[in-house]
Amino acid sequence: MSSSTRCRSSFIPSILFAVVLVGLLIPSSASKRHVINFRSPGLYPEGLTWDPSGQHFIVGSLHSRTIHSVSDAGVVQTLVFDPDLPENASILGLAVDSTNRRLLAAIHCAPPLAPFSALAAYDLRSGGRRIFLSSLPSLAGDDEDIARDIANDVAVDYNGNAYVTNSAKNFIWKVDRDGAASIFSRSPLFNSQPVAEEADASFRDCGLNGIVYNSKGYLLVVQSNTGKMFKVDEESGKAKLVLLNGDLVAADGMARRRRDGTVMVVSQKKLWLVKSQDSWSEGVVYDEIDLDVEGFPTAVTVAGQDRVYVLYGRVMEGIMGNYKEGEEREWFGIEEVSSEKESGEDKIWVYVLIGLGFAYFCFWRFQMKRLITNMDKKTT
Ligand SMILES: *[C@@H]1O[C@H](CO)[C@@H](O)[C@H](O)[C@H]1NC(C)=O
Repeated sequence: MSSSTRCRSSFIPSILFAVVLVGLLIPSSASKRHVINFRSPGLYPEGLTWDPSGQHFIVGSLHSRTIHSVSDAGVVQTLVFDPDLPENASILGLAVDSTNRRLLAAIHCAPPLAPFSALAAYDLRSGGRRIFLSSLPSLAGDDEDIARDIANDVAVDYNGNAYVTNSAKNFIWKVDRDGAASIFSRSPLFNSQPVAEEADASFRDCGLNGIVYNSKGYLLVVQSNTGKMFKVDEESGKAKLVLLNGDLVAADGMARRRRDGTVMVVSQKKLWLVKSQDSWSEGVVYDEIDLDVEGFPTAVTVAGQDRVYVLYGRVMEGIMGNYKEGEEREWFGIEEVSSEKESGEDKIWVYVLIGLGFAYFCFWRFQMKRLITNMDKKTT
């Protein structure tokens, strides 16, 4: 009895001490946010991905048919210059196929260029040699001169199959490991949702956009103009609407964190963090982080140590092209985004664990004391 009271009285200061100690040991992630500014005149990159083997980011050019690596410290190197792409073609979505050490790039030509939609694959082992450039088929009977396809974003599975969203026509292409391209999913669900009221001219016609692959056999894809998310079966291409607690209006790029399956969705204004407990029948937006609207974020990726980064590529400025010859922007940014809710949660977990440790210690001490008292009794 008396011994347990003693334990309790020493337990509280111990916990307080632990809390203070942990508070000192854990650096505030918000203050250590990693910001990379990199120089590449006229790049206006739209796509961003992380290459785990090279330990660098990869970005694509809006007009110059080039793809570049960007190091942690902002050092830019050209990985690919592909003169076989049409002049002024845009590199949009990017994905690294880690199994085959390849880089996949969605290619789009905006007016006044002639229509062109393709997926390109480059070998990351051999300094960016092109493996294939596959033209993506239009729907039968579609007149590309009236409304052209937009190959926007790409995800890759563990067999090297790529899935490319068509933002204009609301379907998904599949391109296999050898470059054979086909229309993979044309679910009527993709055309069933109302366009959001706040959808302005900049994305009113932009449908399926960011896409991620999940090894449990499905893809998740977001739709800019409706703010909806769909779960698409990797075999059949059948789609289901993911029930969310809010619409992700103006959703653009998307990324998935492997550790816990959290999905990040970026728009020009914010980053949403979305979780699911039931393999994406339902999802919960559990944090919304405001981004720098001026920087025009379009893509998000998960880099080393599960850190989340967004790309500030100022794409709209590049598309408008209102700058004079030789006066294009030179600097762009890749910035880490951290969720205060998550770091808070992490800290609480640490407190709980340490608290449990101390409780266990006190219990152990109490038991030892009893043991010793009993032994004392026996010996006397
Ligand atoms: C590509 O862009 C440059 C600069 O805007 C322009 O001068 C050139 O005519 C364009 N080429 C094509 C094929 O449109």
